[in-house]
Amino acid sequence: MNKAHELLTSFKARFGTSASVYRAPGRVNLIGEHTDYNGGLVMPAAIGFSCWVAIAPREDRNLILYSENYSEAYEADLDELGDRGSGHWADYPLGVAWALGDAGYRLRGANLYIAGDVPQGAGLSSSAAIEVSTGCALLSTANHPLDRTKLALLCQRAENEFVGARVGIMDQFVSCHGRAGHALLIDCRSLEFRPLKLPPRVRLVICNTMVKHKLQASEYNVRRAECEEAVRRLSEALPGISSLRDVSPEQLAENRNVLSETLYRRCRHVISENKRVRKVAELFGARKTEGLREVMAASHESLRDDYEVSCRELDAMVEIAGRQQGVYGARMTGGGFGGCTINFVNVEHAEEFQRRVSAEYEAAIGLRPDIYICEASQGAELVETAAENLPKVTR
Ligand code: GLA
Repeated sequence: MNKAHELLTSFKARFGTSASVYRAPGRVNLIGEHTDYNGGLVMPAAIGFSCWVAIAPREDRNLILYSENYSEAYEADLDELGDRGSGHWADYPLGVAWALGDAGYRLRGANLYIAGDVPQGAGLSSSAAIEVSTGCALLSTANHPLDRTKLALLCQRAENEFVGARVGIMDQFVSCHGRAGHALLIDCRSLEFRPLKLPPRVRLVICNTMVKHKLQASEYNVRRAECEEAVRRLSEALPGISSLRDVSPEQLAENRNVLSETLYRRCRHVISENKRVRKVAELFGARKTEGLREVMAASHESLRDDYEVSCRELDAMVEIAGRQQGVYGARMTGGGFGGCTINFVNVEHAEEFQRRVSAEYEAAIGLRPDIYICEASQGAELVETAAENLPKVTR
């Protein structure tokens, strides 16, 4: 039985009716780390792990949410959502309902059955997956058309304000717009994007360090604040800049004296990382893998030394990956302080890579890593509908 049918069966058992099922994927970022909230460039891909939401409307104004992952139900009144979460898993779907309502969408009460297989806490955006799948489900149940970019922005707002995590736009955006077999080159300022086909014979291999350090959330906010402070200081000499996206490497060097050593290094990471995104886009465009390895290594080093968001486990994973055959590049991915690395691996070597990296990482760190061989997947979609005459998949 496929996942959608499983959900329909569970939904029927719980709520007694048929339902429609929506799916939204997690993501892995290939290059462009900590650039999204600096108005910069990113290149993520949606992956084969997703969150599914089965939904059917109710006659009243209640949202009844059931999470299969937490084996727990949660009930809320659409008209009394408040504007802040309470640290509960339900904050994600409720935050989306709040953000949609606040943006003027009139929603309907509904029963929702939610199940996800995006590994949690691994930096693969299980939060974006639940937000976007819930958003699609709520919009469609109330007969609103789906504007993917608008939904991504509202899901980001839900996470920023209702959940309280100041994330950038990358995760929600690629969960909405992902394209099978492609990465997306996203300009996080204009929100223009371009699908880029992955080079032939390249597999995306994600290595989960199985650690998540406590620093993760607090240091993320510190980094954002540091970038904002740097823009404030630089703008005295460079009026007209509104984000680090506007600052060239030369301008940064010329104005180094207005920044502390730490702020200078933070800026150097962001500015050089944008260049690396362009370089990888160029290589993918030319269907080339030569040079990829160096760019990925430079990204990891910059995140480790200048942005200081790596950790011992991520460094070990990248180092081990670099020793394997058939690897076109490896670096940490996502916010940092644990989570995963992304590796470009030749399809013929992918399984061998998985076996060896697993053994070597376990020998070095004492934890058995999860290693996923992925393909870039499609963004959010309707996968099964209660009404037989509707199309099965909408884009
Ligand atoms: C987290 C955030 C993203 C992005 C990355 C770092 O995943 O959710 O918005 O800032 O960190 O690139």
